Amino acid sequence: MMRDNSWGFVRVNALANGYWASCALHAAVRTGLSGELAKGPRTTDDLAQGLELDSRAVGMLLTVFTTLGLLNKDGEVYSMVPEAAPFFLPGGPKDMSHIIMHNALMVETWAKLHNSMQSGNPVNPGFTPKESLHFYKGMRDISRQQAGGLAARLGLKSGQSLLDLGGGPGIYGYTFAQETSGLRVTVFDLPDSLPSFEEEAQGRDLSIPVTRINGDYTIDHIGGPYDVIWISHILHGEGPDAAGALLKKAAAALNPGGALWIQEFVVDPEGKGHPFAALFALNMLLNTEKGQAYSFKELSDLMTAAGLENIQAVGPTAPGAPASLIKGEKPK
Ligand SMILES: C[S@@+](CC[C@H](N)C(=O)[O-])C[C@H]1O[C@@H](n2cnc3c(N)ncnc32)[C@H](O)[C@@H]1O
Repeated sequence: MMRDNSWGFVRVNALANGYWASCALHAAVRTGLSGELAKGPRTTDDLAQGLELDSRAVGMLLTVFTTLGLLNKDGEVYSMVPEAAPFFLPGGPKDMSHIIMHNALMVETWAKLHNSMQSGNPVNPGFTPKESLHFYKGMRDISRQQAGGLAARLGLKSGQSLLDLGGGPGIYGYTFAQETSGLRVTVFDLPDSLPSFEEEAQGRDLSIPVTRINGDYTIDHIGGPYDVIWISHILHGEGPDAAGALLKKAAAALNPGGALWIQEFVVDPEGKGHPFAALFALNMLLNTEKGQAYSFKELSDLMTAAGLENIQAVGPTAPGAPASLIKGEKPK
């Protein structure tokens, strides 16, 4: 990734206050304003009245979003740009309101980053029930955007068995099953995420139902053997020892010749990677005991120690996305 080394006071100041725009977005979702605008054009006054908000404040927020290019203004009427509207439409297939709410709830934690810098410990080692709800549904918001079409990229085939380890709501597992008729999919996760998994099953057309195992992958048997294991955004929640142990457990649950796929925010210690992956490492510092973002070398070493071979960086999950795919194979 190209780094931009050109600096002036304007860019420094923009970096200092970048959270203002994020907080404006959080407020738009929290108040229901973005959802209303996603449904259709509105004026300041009718939005303020309908949502019981202060008209002057609504006007200010609408000007921000118009300036940011999220809204168009025609006279007194604001309309969301068509390309953006699906991401804010409540209950729609591309709705991102839960991941936005998750980020809103993380603001207080991020504001205490200096404490973690001193102690090396997390500020928020566990989520409240409200934080958990938006976290699980927020993961769903993101995975829904990029799960489609991945089955072909992973080379999944009818008759294979696949484990979505730490699959949470199971979006990847369900999508792989939907896109690969005859694929037998198991989603393994903690019991906490079962409601979001069951909700996700509704309305899906699958040739074979997706199996669910509730368990803790650090202590419980993960089933198998499987032909393919998909480990998406799991390892960053664990320290190197636990991540290595989990990869060994997964490799042991693979059939000979089977494939282990990792999706992760891969950090580049030389500073040439996606900035989000580097920021995500701080998010793990703030929210977990030992989690971190891993480099390709660190992941590759852990996969090798787990007995995998032919390890390759396959590239970003989607163009420009901060998440990358890595593949390893169990020897035949
Ligand atoms: C960041 S989410 C990733 C979910 C999904 N794989 C995805 O990519 O969207 C991490 C998942 O790991 C699960 N998890 C964390 N610790 C676990 C454990 N000890 N055993 C099983 N699942 C666990 C969480 O419940 C959560 O669903």
